[in-house]
Amino acid sequence: MSTFQAPKGTYDLLPPSSATYLAVREAISAPLRNSGYGYVETPGFENVELFARGVGESTDIVTKEMYAFETKGGDRLALRPEGTASVLRAALEANLHKAGNLPVKLWYSGSYYRYERPQKGRYRHFSQVGAEAIGAEDPALDAELIILADQAYRSLGLRDFRILLNSLGDKECRPAYREALQDFLRGLDLDEDTRRRVDINPLRVLDDKRADVQKQLAGAPLLRDHLCDACRAYHQEVRELLSAAGVAFEDDEKLVRGLDYYTRTTFEFVHDGLGSQSAVGGGGRYDGLSEMIGGPALPSVGWALGVDRTVLALEAEGVTLDLPATTSVFAVPIGEEARRRLFGVVTQLRKAGVATDFAYGGKGLKAAMKAANRSGARYALVLGERDLTEGVAQLKDMESGEQEPVALDAIVEKLGSRLA
Ligand code: HAM
Repeated sequence: MSTFQAPKGTYDLLPPSSATYLAVREAISAPLRNSGYGYVETPGFENVELFARGVGESTDIVTKEMYAFETKGGDRLALRPEGTASVLRAALEANLHKAGNLPVKLWYSGSYYRYERPQKGRYRHFSQVGAEAIGAEDPALDAELIILADQAYRSLGLRDFRILLNSLGDKECRPAYREALQDFLRGLDLDEDTRRRVDINPLRVLDDKRADVQKQLAGAPLLRDHLCDACRAYHQEVRELLSAAGVAFEDDEKLVRGLDYYTRTTFEFVHDGLGSQSAVGGGGRYDGLSEMIGGPALPSVGWALGVDRTVLALEAEGVTLDLPATTSVFAVPIGEEARRRLFGVVTQLRKAGVATDFAYGGKGLKAAMKAANRSGARYALVLGERDLTEGVAQLKDMESGEQEPVALDAIVEKLGSRLA
């Protein structure tokens, strides 16, 4: 124990469970890499205005949860609370949209920061893998992203998740709906904070989790009944493409999401084993965001899946990933000369691509074999004094317990072919 601890709402990833996090990131990104998405990485912080304008001045993320600070040089920055605004900013800055190949399809993986009240599944530092398809209005693109997320979760062995789907309309139909909703909400018995929200962002009130508010919301006008023809047709096409792909979803008219940039398609992946923090991922279309941050009109769609919550979902379903052992060979020298000689062999094995570890610290045979066992290695390679004089090492199969002498200068070739 040191004097210091990880800050509140954060935790460390440590072996052996950290391997699961890496495998989850890999599994989520694999379908994207297989579908034309290129890797993008942006800074961990941005101009605070990017998020204020992009995510929305009235959202909890911007008003309550952002780690905003002023640098010594007087710049107002914020640790990124999400990835979409940054990725779009980067694409615009590099003129990727002008290279003539729309949509620009990008994926990312990294750390995000929100000053939230910590609880299981909700952290102040968390990690997402995300995807953004920038510059095309095509229902097949919305469907593609939902299908790829579904594929990612299924490849991990998850089963108890559901896909909630909604359309938030566009700049044609949403304003009229917003007004109808405001009229309805102003007739309810709501606290001052919520009444303020009715003025600024009435759709968010639909998302209020409190039972007394939800009770009053029965009978609220539904966006579904206010969608313009274009939005309705677009949404129907997304639904049909998903059904044709065999991806089950539930229509959820109350799905609003906590970020203001969404238009038309919105969706969330929820897992039923996670309690209140059940959203393992979410996303949607954001046709107006580019213009909101000073770019040209670039209709776009994307999602981000939470790595932390995906790991919790695996635990909830009792899924253990089949992770390959990281060490194939564990080398155990007995005596000083053997140590020097075997260390040379270890270096050669590693150069040949064989994952090899070594008993460091002058351990005795018993402790060293224990370490070999713990490493999960398939083989132990033991070099004693007598072996040295005979020019061999003992290769022990850790599964069968069988042991055989192997000439020192033939080890790399032998292990290389056995482990291939
Ligand atoms: P989001 O719904 O805010 O969307 O976050 C996506 C996922 O990140 C959530 O479903 C959850 O799994 C995870 N997450 C969010 N906050 C926390 C937290 N405090 N602790 C642990 N996990 C968390 C976005 O971030 C959008 N940028 C998604 C998107 C991409 N929309 C379009 N493109």
